[in-house]
Amino acid sequence: MDDTEQSNEEMILSFLAEGGEDYVSGAALSDKLGLSRTAVWKHVEQLRRLGYRIDAQASRGYRLLEVPDTLTALEVGPLLATRELGRTLHHYDELDSTNVKAFELAHEGGFHGEVIVAEHQTAGKGRRGRVWVSPPGKSLAMSVIVRPEIPPSRAPELTLVTAVALAETLRDSGVDARIKWPNDVQIAGKKVAGILTELSADTERVHFVILGIGVNLNVPAAEFPAEIAEIATSILAAKNQPVHRALFVAALLAKLESWLDVWTEQGFAPIRDAWKALTSTLGQEVVVRTDGKELRGVAEDIDESGALLLRAGEKLERILSGDVEQLRA
Ligand code: BTN
Repeated sequence: MDDTEQSNEEMILSFLAEGGEDYVSGAALSDKLGLSRTAVWKHVEQLRRLGYRIDAQASRGYRLLEVPDTLTALEVGPLLATRELGRTLHHYDELDSTNVKAFELAHEGGFHGEVIVAEHQTAGKGRRGRVWVSPPGKSLAMSVIVRPEIPPSRAPELTLVTAVALAETLRDSGVDARIKWPNDVQIAGKKVAGILTELSADTERVHFVILGIGVNLNVPAAEFPAEIAEIATSILAAKNQPVHRALFVAALLAKLESWLDVWTEQGFAPIRDAWKALTSTLGQEVVVRTDGKELRGVAEDIDESGALLLRAGEKLERILSGDVEQLRA
């Protein structure tokens, strides 16, 4: 679908939505859009193929009966309040990984703020080489291309920027979300969302960063694969109510854009404060597993670059990456 077709279809949908229970005549639509009646009909057919239920009556016109639960630009676009993020949105029913696709698009010149969403990932990537699995059509698998002007050493800050935006969006959806260092988001100790940031850079500067975000939205507890059932949760499982997925995406992109603005204008300090207010890790006794090492101590703080400061007796360890297990709630 090119952009003009998309905006014609967006406009047909918004006129039909405005019409509510009433039929909107084909003549009115063709006048408003400056299209022939046949062209209007073709767009309606295309919308039906995308899952919109539209009744057509020769004497009365068209009426919107049902919209699909998808994360296409048609559904997310009208809800967006951003300047850049999500203004170009690539939607796929199935992909290996949205991060892989985003990387390809960014290499081909994809813009800052372009978003890639998949209803289903066949090879979703998690941190530290793990896989990320979620049942099709019920979650969010999204990658955002960002092009900050920073040296590579500052790229890890973006993971914390994303975690803050994500935790706040989840909290606004009515769940008690908390960040576990570095970037898991949990509800009552179970993981609801994860972030995988990947970057392309040379020694001097970052070319682009892919912010990969996976959120368990409307996954019933019983549908998690056995191997993660004990440690995973979703918004639906936590509050017994589904979320409107397109609204969630629009809200998340708005939050992300506004935290990215803060970060660009004021640096990492306000992100660190916000992260600290949202975390469940600090003050806890934890075990941290990093490459080949296991460290035990109290998670005392994060430093000015987001690294974890772990108090182990007299020693204060600075940890850049790893898995944290909280020993006591
Ligand atoms: C983690 O907690 O291990 C990170 C999980 C990140 C999953 C998301 S889903 C969208 C994006 N595409 C991927 O392949 N991974 C990230």
